[in-house]
Amino acid sequence: MPGRFDYILFILTAFLILFLTGCRGTSGQNSLLGGDERESIPSVPDEYSGYANPFTGDADAIAQGEILYQANCSSCHGSTGEGDGPASGGIDPKPGNIATRQANLSDSYLFWRISEGGLMEPFNSIMPGWKGILSAEKI
Ligand code: HEC
Repeated sequence: MPGRFDYILFILTAFLILFLTGCRGTSGQNSLLGGDERESIPSVPDEYSGYANPFTGDADAIAQGEILYQANCSSCHGSTGEGDGPASGGIDPKPGNIATRQANLSDSYLFWRISEGGLMEPFNSIMPGWKGILSAEKI
């Protein structure tokens, strides 16, 4: 038969578990900086600011960009950019839905993020930095 001490221990353990899962929920939300849960768009560092995509509206460039995207990005971001690529399952933070998010992201922001990736604050993600792999033109 459990004594009074066992009972108190049980209650304390239950509270501890609730407390810890509560904490995990909160920090999980903060760490989802790449996901659609990101609250604000981080500001672009000086060296990437004021950039405008020189290929906007260029059908050839857009077609080539799609080929580059499918080859290099779709494994994580998904073939339509919804963040559901085959490699997205175990990633934390996960890729957000760039198909919908990109409308709110500036050319500078996109050029910065694709060039430098996520191995930095506040992202801390496995989004690769592409600047040594793809030319600026391809990015
Ligand atoms: C290994 C998986 C992986 C690959 C491959 C990858 N990404 Fe990502 N990417 C991520 C993750 C995870 C995030 C979300 C975290 C972050 O913002 O750093 C992300 C974030 C981004 C963002 C920022 C989105 C936002 O809402 O701020 C852009 C833009 C992006 N990726 C473009 C690309 C492009 C373009 C390629 C291919 C050249 C690519 N990614 C390849 C994992 C990947």
